[in-house]
Formats: sequence, structure tokens, C-alpha cells
Amino acid sequence: MSDTAWWQHGTIYQVYPRSFQDSDGDGVGDLKGIRQRLDHLCWLGVDALWISPIYPSPMADFGYDITDYHGVDPIFGRMEDFDHLLADAHGRGLKVILDFVPNHTSDHHPWFMESRSSRHNAKRDWYIWRDPALDGGPPNNWLANFGGSAWEYDPATGQYYYHAFLKEQPDLNWRNPAVREAMYDALRFWLDRGVDGFRVDVLWHLIKDDQFRDNPPNPAWLPGHAGIDRLLQRYSCDRPEIHSVVAEMRAVLDAYSDRVLIGEIYLPIERLVAYYGRDMAGAHLPFNFQLIFAAWNARDIARIVDDYEAALPQGGWPNWVLGNHDQKRIATRVGAAQARVAAMLLLTLRGTPTLYYGDELGLENVPIAPEQVQDPWEKNEPGLGLGRDPARTPMPWDESENAGFTLGKPWLPLNPDHATRNVAALAADPNSILTLCRQLIALRRAYPALHRGRYLPLRTEDDIFAFRRSCGQQRDLLVALNFGQTVKRLALPPDAAGADLLLSTGLDRIRESTGEVLQLRPREGLVLQLMPR
Ligand code: GLC
Ligand code: MG
Repeated sequence: MSDTAWWQHGTIYQVYPRSFQDSDGDGVGDLKGIRQRLDHLCWLGVDALWISPIYPSPMADFGYDITDYHGVDPIFGRMEDFDHLLADAHGRGLKVILDFVPNHTSDHHPWFMESRSSRHNAKRDWYIWRDPALDGGPPNNWLANFGGSAWEYDPATGQYYYHAFLKEQPDLNWRNPAVREAMYDALRFWLDRGVDGFRVDVLWHLIKDDQFRDNPPNPAWLPGHAGIDRLLQRYSCDRPEIHSVVAEMRAVLDAYSDRVLIGEIYLPIERLVAYYGRDMAGAHLPFNFQLIFAAWNARDIARIVDDYEAALPQGGWPNWVLGNHDQKRIATRVGAAQARVAAMLLLTLRGTPTLYYGDELGLENVPIAPEQVQDPWEKNEPGLGLGRDPARTPMPWDESENAGFTLGKPWLPLNPDHATRNVAALAADPNSILTLCRQLIALRRAYPALHRGRYLPLRTEDDIFAFRRSCGQQRDLLVALNFGQTVKRLALPPDAAGADLLLSTGLDRIRESTGEVLQLRPREGLVLQLMPR
């Protein structure tokens, strides 16, 4: 593994801290709780945890609205709890990645309070203030991601400020060098403490159009879609000047050894891969979310993988994501049986996998009654299915009260099937999806072909997506995934006389060897090692 970095050959696990483990009975997960559960991550076999924001915050957007980039919110604990967590994680060989939210602060951040205090304040230009349009309305037509205009009028100073998300999340002005320096200082603060990298929130948003041109309408928008999608975000994000900013940020990390820069970027492939930067001086891993939006069939998935492989720049390391705290659970998107196929896909493709907490249990979206809603997006645009609470529910650990998540009242309801779908129960079940995920991760670690080998497409037709992973002198691996509901046959490639089965999504076929033709049961995925002719 010496020729790849940890963030290349390892698996990343996302922890949503409010929902992982509560240690003090307030119903909200915290740092001590995460520390108590590191055993699970080691047992599962992942290499790094990425923790969604833990900084002081009024929690308008549950931590993505920050009032202090150098602190820990009391709901999550104290700085010393963080240091203990980091030390324990490192002691067990786990890396820790923090979420970094540079695009906007909370409107309670002292910088913003100063900025809004007067047009002449030294921090006025730290945010994006514009005069009203001639009719007194907002400066342009830009929309907020959580509904409504992206401009909020501030009567005290007679200007509007820009917020890509909630009005409680004013956007910083990243064209101002003092802002950039302050944010790089925040990065150094955590790097000095020993964190292993950052997942950078909405990285493609940092720089907006220098002329604030109107965004064009989106012809594909229909009533019932999110308000933000009425317009194409042509001028409000992904501007050409962003890439020099990303390179600056990367340089901050490069002053330390072995740190990783991950960018949250929702863009089509050709624009996404630009975030690797010129000469790979940008993000190490621009998050690749294509599997989240893919139609779940062999042809579409294969096309996505092949197009992505083809689009990667020289030296650009791939990565794959199936779910996160903003998206529907994978098991709900594709169904329980296909969730196993999805896990095998994620953990056998070429590139760093990111696993969202609970997906290893096949956790589904949890229905949230109107009076239980927490997510501000759902509150702003109710009933459209935009709310993110269903995918943020507490991790079910065991059969005790509240599934072992809290001794208090959980901030969001547990999954209704928590009595049976929990870590303890599924860990004891040799056929569970959890056991499958653990074995896949172990396989990925054990076989260089899986964690750093080449990807070679093999066949996609009749519901089957099959590919080879190949590395040096070792025998090639074959991954074959049946997306369909019927038994399928797959001929091995001509250079293989047969294959040894390493793993089936059903976990019920072991030590089988095949002839030249392989049988796949409905919704079955297999990993095999080819026998050369
Ligand atoms: C990112 C986060 C999301 C948050 C938004 C605003 O998309 O993943 O949870 O609401 O940025 O910070
Ligand atoms: Mg707590």
C-alpha cells in the first residue's frame, strides 16, 4: 500500500454527530459519544471518519451555520473532548476529517454582526452587500437553496446581503483577501491540532460572478420541484476564479504532511473534474455524487463509471459516494435487495469510497411527522419531499431503550424497525448487510486489485454490470452485479478458465469455483478471482 496515500486506499465513513451516539442524555449525539463508538468503526474496518460540523452554531442549519471556526459547540462537548476523540482515533489507526464550512457563516458570527453594523465598518466587505435594484427589490434574481430569494434586505444600512442558503447563513466574500486569510487560519488551527483533512462544504459556491448577472431560467423546472431549480446556477457558483482559491486552500494543507482536501461539489462530470485543479493542485477528492442521482440499472451505472473514468485528469484519483446527510438513504432509493448490490459496487469500484453512517445497516429513510420536522428546508418548502431529516435519524446500536443511542429523548425518531435493525443484531447475523459491508471492506483491504488496481469494463447488458480489477502480478478480480430480478448467466472473459468465488452479496456461497460461465441469482453481486488459462 506504500505507493498510495491513506485517503486513496482507505474507506471514509461519514458521521453525522447529532445522530451517532449521545453520551449525556440530551437526545443529541456528541463527541464523547463518537469516541465511545470507535470500536464499531474499527470492527467495520474503515480507515477514516469524516464528522459533519461540530463548531459553535445557533443550529439554524444544524452546524452548517458557524459562529466560531476555532471552537466546539457545547451540545457536542468541549475542545478537550475533541482532542480525546482525535487521540483515541489516531491510537486506533483511524484518520479524522472535519467538515469545513467556508462559504458562509452564521448571521450571529461576530464578523457578520460587525459587517452589518454600518456601511463603513472594516468588515463590511467581508460579506456580499449590494444596493437594491432600481425598483427597490433584490439586486438580481438569484435564489436561495432552501427557498425564496437569496437576498435579504437590511433596513439599518439600506442594502441587501447575499445568502446561498438560509438568511441566517450570509455568504462570505471570498474575493476579499482578508476573508481568505482568516479562513486559512481556521484550517491551520485544526491542522495544528492534528486533524487529517477537511471535507469542504459547497466548495463550488465560494466565488460568485463579478458582475452579479441574472441566472437563466431552467427549462426543465416543474411545479413541485425545489424552488432553487427554477434557475440554472450559471452565475452564482462554479465561476472560473474559484480554481485559484481551491489551489490556495490546498497549499495550506500541503504545508502539513499527509492531509486530505475533499470538496463537496454538485456538478456534471466535466465541470467536477476541473476541481482537481491545474497540475492536480486543487482538491484531492472532488466528491463524485453521480451514483446518488443514477437511474438504478446496469446500463446507466456502467455508463456513469466509464464516463467518469474517461473524464478523470492524469493523476486525478477517483472517489464514489452513495449517500450523505443531504440525500435520501440508498436503501430507500433502490430497495433492500439492491442496497447489497450498491454496497458491493461502492466498495469494489476504483477510487475512495465514502460510506454514510447507517448505510452499513441498510437503514432506510425514516418517516418524519410534521410536528417532528427539524430541517429548515422542509420548514421552508414543506411537503415536496425535500426535507433531510429522514436520512439523519439516530444510529440504532442495540435492543436497549432508544436502541442505545440516548438515555433521553432522541432529537429525531429512531427507525421503526430498530428492535431488529441495529448494529448488535446485524453483527450477530452472518447473512446481514452489515456482515456483507464488513467483508467487502476486508476484501478491499486485502486485495490490492480492489484498493488500487486498474478498472476494466467487461460487460453490461441484460441487467449485468461486470468489470475487472487488475493489479500487477496478482490474479485479476471480477465483479459481477445483477441489477435484475431473474437469474443471469455471464461468460467469463476468454483469458479465464474459471474463477474462485470470494464473496456473494447473499453471503451464502463460499469456496465455490466456477467453470467458464457464471450464474448470478436475482439481485446478486459476486466478487471472484479469475483463473488464467
Ligand atoms: C452543504 C451541506 C448541507 C448544508 C449546506 C449549507 O450542502 O452538506 O447540509 O445545508 O451545505 O451549508
Ligand atoms: Mg448529547
